Amino acid sequence: MKTLIVYFSFTGNNKALADTIAMDLGADVLQITEPKKRGMFKIMLDMFFNRFPRINELSIPWGQYDHILLMAPIWNYLIAHPMKTFIRKNKTYLKNYSFITLCGGRETQNEKIAKQLKKLATYEPQAIIEFEILKLPTYEEQKSSMYKVTQDDLKAFKQQEAYQKLLETYAIKEEILQ
Ligand SMILES: Cc1cc2nc3c(=O)[nH]c(=O)nc-3n(C[C@H](O)[C@H](O)[C@H](O)COP(=O)(O)O)c2cc1C
Repeated sequence: MKTLIVYFSFTGNNKALADTIAMDLGADVLQITEPKKRGMFKIMLDMFFNRFPRINELSIPWGQYDHILLMAPIWNYLIAHPMKTFIRKNKTYLKNYSFITLCGGRETQNEKIAKQLKKLATYEPQAIIEFEILKLPTYEEQKSSMYKVTQDDLKAFKQQEAYQKLLETYAIKEEILQ
């Protein structure tokens, strides 16, 4: 099963996660980028008006992949807007896909993410997994809205049962040739 990871990241957490998950799955990785530099003000406007910002075109050989893994932060309960644009643009290709976010963590968020994906995409995701910064044991020490995850944090997140299940399904299994 070949996976393509498509991610968006503003402060680097989802990028770090995408890179390590790519190694776990043996997946290819593409980053969503924007023609204009993003700052906090633009995030506020996107959140307020629930906008679909312009993103740079990605040329994807969809036929080469069995599974697409989308990764992005959550902003005020919303899937980060550049990812929303990507999903809306490519919804016909997103048949077998999952969504993972490395986010702050808020209650009832999983259902809200599911609702957004239902609206944006044609098909339902195989899995929605939240890796929540608030649940990290180190978070209390470094409380900050711009918390940067460490490699240890990423390791801890990946122990989650839902992630292990995803690995079992989609990791490329190397055949041992005698
Ligand atoms: C403006 C703003 C709003 C946010 N709102 C939420 C939220 O509603 N729920 C959540 O779980 N995390 C929220 N976060 C936290 C981010 O999702 C988290 O820091 C994430 O790891 C950032 O990912 P990145 O480094 O890949 O950009 C918010 C962060 C920012 C900057």
